[in-house]
Order: sequence, then structure tokens, then C-alpha cells
Amino acid sequence: MGMDPAALQPDQSHSLVPSHKLAATVSLRCVECAALYPGVEHQPRYRCDCGGVLDVEMAFRHPGPPPVTALQDAYEALTATESEFAPLTGAHWRQLFDERASLPQTWPAGTGTRALDASGVWRYRQLILPVPEAYIVSRPEGNTGLYPVGIENCGVDRAGHRQIGYYAGLGQLFLKHEGENPTGSFKDRGMTVGVSMAHLLGARAVACASTGNTSASLASYAAQVGLPCIVFLPSANVAGGKLAQSLAYGATTIRIEGDFDDAMHLVEQVCNELSVYLLNSLNPYRIEGQKAIGFELLQQLDWQAPDWLILPAGNLGNTSAIGKAFRQAHQLGLISHLPRIASIQAAGANPFYRSFVSGFAQRERVQAQTIASAIKIGDPVSYTRARRVIEESNGVVEEVTDDEILAAKRIIDRAGIGCEPASAATLAGARKLVERGIIKRGERVVGILTGNLLKDSHTGIPQPEQGDVIEANIESVRKTLGNLATGNDV
Ligand code: F0G
Repeated sequence: MGMDPAALQPDQSHSLVPSHKLAATVSLRCVECAALYPGVEHQPRYRCDCGGVLDVEMAFRHPGPPPVTALQDAYEALTATESEFAPLTGAHWRQLFDERASLPQTWPAGTGTRALDASGVWRYRQLILPVPEAYIVSRPEGNTGLYPVGIENCGVDRAGHRQIGYYAGLGQLFLKHEGENPTGSFKDRGMTVGVSMAHLLGARAVACASTGNTSASLASYAAQVGLPCIVFLPSANVAGGKLAQSLAYGATTIRIEGDFDDAMHLVEQVCNELSVYLLNSLNPYRIEGQKAIGFELLQQLDWQAPDWLILPAGNLGNTSAIGKAFRQAHQLGLISHLPRIASIQAAGANPFYRSFVSGFAQRERVQAQTIASAIKIGDPVSYTRARRVIEESNGVVEEVTDDEILAAKRIIDRAGIGCEPASAATLAGARKLVERGIIKRGERVVGILTGNLLKDSHTGIPQPEQGDVIEANIESVRKTLGNLATGNDV
């Protein structure tokens, strides 16, 4: 605290955009000291003056009418029709989102608000960010699959998917595959909002540090609007597919001596000193977009909140975002209870787990080491936001070894779903939490798969040997297939 009260008022004199569009609506609150800043200032703000990270606030209130004009301003920034519609109850919100999700997504209807409705992020725009439509940069993203894979809910003919349920020991398990986003990871959800903000603010260039997925996503979205993009990657351990994406999309790709944490410190300095817009999840607007994972999975479950949500945790942006989505959905009456959140870390990159087991007595940092390169992070930026999510959802943080990650990945891959190594921490964590009796076998659980199998085609995937090629005749095929060729085994 300890701030001049005047500083707590959003100061609109510095707005870069007309105040009725955004500044009056959106504020940024420090998660450490609760200081409040305007959503838009001359110089983009990523941290509080005290150093804390910031959280977007739009002052939704429920039940009852919104006591702040902020909500109305947010509507005004949307289309005229929508601004006349002020849903106040959970049932109204559900109806609005369900109507949008059911609209046919055919061309040439894919323009204007219909295009926004087609996005699994902007469909929830009143709960995301009131960015004027003309500035929105969308592919569109989201609309990812939610696969029932539990022993009981996977469907009679789904022998492959049921293996996942057996592995976790869960009757009611769903996997939401965020690797089905346009660039193959959940990052697109945050990036559509982050790059739209960059567009709205007239940024001259955008940048991020990344273990590979954030950079692939940023490079793609920046390329859509012709924004120069700079990405900073650790020199080692970035999966080939991810590196290829940022190069192919035309980003200036800088590999640094050091790990992700070093890249993160560097990019923050670069952005502040060179006036480049920062698009790591330190940027609070990205978190707003990633909330849509939570809204979309609730909608896919017909707004029946699960008991648990499990996800891999690295920089902790996603834990923060999904937790915030559930909190808002609960406050607005969209769901009747808050799911418990389980964040899973790799054992060699487990600062959040270490803090959790000590009752969050202090913030831990480690030198990260894990085969799951996407979550090889030792000093997560969103620590405080994520800690709040774990505490308020009565959640847990678990750690899993690299061997456990690879074993879980094999199960997901063999079920025909597939994911990148970091994503498999979800299933490894589910299994461990069930074994430990923290998650009950009968509870309803949703796990997030964060990235696509194709991004990392080496880790945990048997590689064909050189010379592993047969002659193109039926005899060679019979020999290769063994029992399968005789029909004995089929
Ligand atoms: N899974 C995948 C596939 C990721 O790429 C990341 C983070 C995470 C999980 C962890 O999410 O950081 O929100 O806790 N990747 C970032 C990147 C760091 O640069 O692509 P988190």
C-alpha cells in the first residue's frame, strides 16, 4: 500500500486512445500492494512502481446491477447492439455465450462480430477486454477439443482413450487440447489479446522471451498485422518445431547464452529501453485472453464446473489466467462452485512446488533442469497471481519427474491424442494426486494439454533408425509385421 490516494485514480490525461474506448473501463491493479493504474498510459506499464506484477480489473459485480459505470463503458466499446444488452445474471451470460457459440461459422459471414463470435476467446469478449473490433487480431483461436478419456466417461468404443483414464485412475476425466490452437499451443489465446492491444496502442514492435511456444504464437500474430517482432530464446533446449515457427513467421529470432529466466530479464530491459511492446505474460492483457480456456471448457461442460482442473506450470501465467476465469465465472453466477486447481511442475523446475510445500512461506527460485523444455523455468513471473489462485481454490501444487512425464506422454500419444512433453505433466500429476488420495477416483477432472505433439518430434518419441527401410514387396512386409501378418495377433 502506502500510495498517494491521487495515484489510485486512473489518470486519463495520459491515454493513448480515446478514454471512452478503454482507459475509463480497464485498470491495472498491483497484485503485491494493490495500487491502481490506468489501463493505458503513454509508456506501457508491465509492473507496479513497487515491482509487483499487474492484474487487469474491470470491476464486474454480481448479483445486482453493476455499481460502476466501467461496465457500461466496456459495452460501449463493443458494437451498438451489444451495448444495449446488459446481462446481469448467470443465466443471461450463459445464454449470450451459448448463442454466439451456436452461430454457423461460414464465409462470408466471418466478418465483424460474427468473426469475433467464431473465436474461442472473443466470444467471451465482455469478460476478456473491451478492445474495439477494428483493432482485434484473431485467426480465430480457441474452439479446442475436450476429450472424455476417463474410465467411465470415454464412451464404449474408446478403448484407446480409456487407457488414459486407467492410467490416471479416474472415472470422469476430460483432456482439453490447447495444442489444437492455430500455432499449436494455448499461447494463441493470450496472444490474440496482447497483439490486439499492441495494435490499438500503435506499438512499433513487439517482443517476448520464450521457451518456444510464446515466440511461435507472437511471431504469427505480429505477422498478421505486419508488426516487427523480436523473440529471445535460450540457446539450448528449444524444440525444433517451435524455433522453425518463429523463423518461418519472420520474427527476428535472437538466441541468448543463458536460460529462459535470463531471456526474461533481458527482454524486460530491452522493451523498457527500446520502446518495444512486451508480450510475455508479464503483460497483464495476455492473461485476460488465456482466461478463455476456462470459459470455453466450462461452456463445453454445459457450465457444470468440474471438481478439479489440472495443468502444467512454468511461468505460472496459465495457472493465474484459468484461476481468474473461474473466479469471475463464479462471481457472475455462471457456475455454482470453484473448481480446485492443481498446478504440476517438473521436479527439476519446481520453485512453485517448493513454495507450496512450505505453506508459501517464501518465494523460491531454482536453476531449472527438465526434459520438458517448455516449463524449464526457475523464477516464474506470475508467482503471486498463481499463489492467490491456489489458495482461493483450495488447490495444490505437485511435482513430477521427467520419467513420469515421459511415461504419461506415451500414454497420451498412444491413445491417438498426442501432446508435447510439458503437457504430459498434467496426466502424470493427475495420476500422482489420485495415488496420494488428494483427488478422489470419483471426482470430475479436467486436464489441460498445453501444446501439440508436432512441436517436439524428438523427446519421448522413438526415432526411426537410419536404414530402417524395407524392400517394397509383400514378403518384406510380412516379415516386418510378424504375427500381425498371419492374423494370429489381430
Ligand atoms: N505448457 C507449454 C506447452 C508451455 O509452452 C508452457 C509455457 C507451459 C506449459 C507453462 O505455462 O508458463 O503459463 O505456467 N511456455 C512459455 C513459452 C514459457 O515461452 O512458451 P505457464
